[in-house]
Amino acid sequence: MKKELNERLTQVGPGTPMGEVFRRFWLPVLLDSELNGPDEEAVPFRILGEDLVAFRDTEGRLGVLDANCPHRLASLSYGRNEECGLRCIYHGWKFDVDGNCVDMPSEPNANQKMKDKIKLTSYPAVERSGAIWIYMGPKNKTPAPPEYEWARFPKDRMAAIKRFQPCNYAQALEGGIDSAHISFLHRDFPAAKKSNSGPDNVHAKFAVGCRNPEFSVNETDYGLQIIAKRALDDIDDVYYRVTQFMVPCFQMIPPILVEGRLKTSPVTGNVWVPIDDENTWNWGFSSDVEPLTERQRGVMGPEGIWGDLDDTYHAHQNAANRYEFDLERQRKYNFSGIAGVRNQDAAVVESMGPIVDRTKEHLGHSDSGIAMFRRLMLKMADDLENGKEPEAASQSESFNIRSVSVILGQAEDLHDVLPDLAAGEPLKSEAAE
Ligand code: FES
Ligand SMILES: [Fe+2]
Repeated sequence: MKKELNERLTQVGPGTPMGEVFRRFWLPVLLDSELNGPDEEAVPFRILGEDLVAFRDTEGRLGVLDANCPHRLASLSYGRNEECGLRCIYHGWKFDVDGNCVDMPSEPNANQKMKDKIKLTSYPAVERSGAIWIYMGPKNKTPAPPEYEWARFPKDRMAAIKRFQPCNYAQALEGGIDSAHISFLHRDFPAAKKSNSGPDNVHAKFAVGCRNPEFSVNETDYGLQIIAKRALDDIDDVYYRVTQFMVPCFQMIPPILVEGRLKTSPVTGNVWVPIDDENTWNWGFSSDVEPLTERQRGVMGPEGIWGDLDDTYHAHQNAANRYEFDLERQRKYNFSGIAGVRNQDAAVVESMGPIVDRTKEHLGHSDSGIAMFRRLMLKMADDLENGKEPEAASQSESFNIRSVSVILGQAEDLHDVLPDLAAGEPLKSEAAE
């Protein structure tokens, strides 16, 4: 990849081509547990290279504003959240949830007109099952939020978590749509205590038995279907895993097929929301059509695949302690020598440096999905520069999909069954018809 294209793919700040693409889509930015109640402390956060604050005003309305007061740029995160607005603690200027300056007590009466000219950047925000989402694009183009199943489900059917990653969004995301690495990076050996390579585990049998799957990629309304087909010499069946990529930064992991022939579920997925060019929030969601079991919820806990996180969602296992790499573990228990699936993912993508130098890579067949991801993202950036809006942004219902794992006979065609298998629960609008 040329250096210029790598910069185009990875730079997301205000005014950059890819930054503009990201600003056409709703993004999850805070867990709802991070946001405080009406008239309580505002919460600072950084997304796409912009410093913002979120708060709930006296009436419970959600406000997301530029973090820096437009007077002399003090942080509004320390603001007095009172009487339907956030008041800067430096000289008392006050802003409502729409960014209007509603009080300017430090100025004389003769100069009160000044406040009508002040408008602080504000972004529309919504709460959707466990997360606060914002839209940072042109207000006249605000689309409906995407109809992901996990974001529509009530709280008993979903759980969300986030983890800080000190690297660019694109390389982290490329790990999530790379179906080839499961045969290596995440492989446990039979000696492992929690080995999942028992005789009934279809996934383990195929993932270990066939480490060079055949890849194909379909372009869709929402992004890409990345299909990994695994066949074994001594078995007639074929194992397909269909990873979904949804623009600009969402993914759904094919479920692990422990037994049987088919699993289709909105169970797990990831989102990589850029904090800035060199830092990312990796969101995880877990959901099901039934209320989640304790075990499913445990996946998001300290014992689960997300690893041990501190109060600010930074991982205990990180580059500073070499992700607690252990040679004994690598020899005896798993391929990587690192404990925990998400720690394994983090170790490889963060080890590339904050922004991977894609001019030095050598992509193979197994990287087909990754190559398509880059082409798709760069095309959206080119199109938008030429005035063509990303179509997916206005097709919120097209995001109502699932990832799929399925066993088929050699003679069966995946494409005959995939549309049905990959469809999510009917939307309210469909149910009403
Ligand atoms: S800096 Fe905020 S009121 Fe002066
Ligand atoms: Fe992984």
